[in-house]
Amino acid sequence: MRTRAIAAQLAPAARLLAAGGGAAMLLLLAGCRQDMHNQPRYKPLAQSAFFPDGRSVRPQVRGTVARGELDVGTVFLTGKADGKLTPDLPVPLTRELLARGRQRFEIFCTPCHGRLGDGNGIVAQRGFRHPPSYHSERLRGEPIGHFFDVITRGFGAMTDFSDRIPPADRWAIAAYIRALQYSRQAKFDELPADMKQQLERSAQ
Ligand code: HEC
Repeated sequence: MRTRAIAAQLAPAARLLAAGGGAAMLLLLAGCRQDMHNQPRYKPLAQSAFFPDGRSVRPQVRGTVARGELDVGTVFLTGKADGKLTPDLPVPLTRELLARGRQRFEIFCTPCHGRLGDGNGIVAQRGFRHPPSYHSERLRGEPIGHFFDVITRGFGAMTDFSDRIPPADRWAIAAYIRALQYSRQAKFDELPADMKQQLERSAQ
């Protein structure tokens, strides 16, 4: 009897509390909603007191590409034009390019392919699968894009080098491989005069 009386007395208070809590919850929720709608942000190109250069627009971080800005379809990055391996070097052919290609080739490729590109590098001599010679008729006939593609994606037992050799250097190496191939096919008549003399002297 007594407990029921106390319960009856407490009931309105409990109801009030519950109602109060509910209202507080609603307010909280409404508060969240407000925040989401009203986030602090800069208007485009507005001045900033936060960054030392006073610009709210931040310069692109070096070595990164903004979302949607990477043009992966270019010949320069794929070695392919219209889905076919390109026969053309997409960068200017210069003496510097060949020198760079030679340097990179001798770092990354000679261990297996040998300095001459004949597939007889030290790793091959010690038992790794012998790579084919670059001087075979088949590889001489491949478009230059093939060499870029092999470096980019690997080939059979050979791993890819895309994480260690950036595209510009891949083209430099591909160009240097062409020079290596040409070095065995050059005709005597096409040599510069001083080289002809040198050769004639050494032949005597
Ligand atoms: C660890 C040894 C190794 C290194 C380093 C290496 N290659 Fe190779 N490469 C091979 C082997 C082995 C093959 C043959 C793969 C096969 O047929 O399974 C090959 C094949 C090739 C081929 C011929 C693909 C074809 O059409 O038959 C090319 C071109 C080539 N490599 C270029 C390169 C270049 C350029 C580099 C340096 C960036 C390089 N490789 C570094 C081992 C290597």
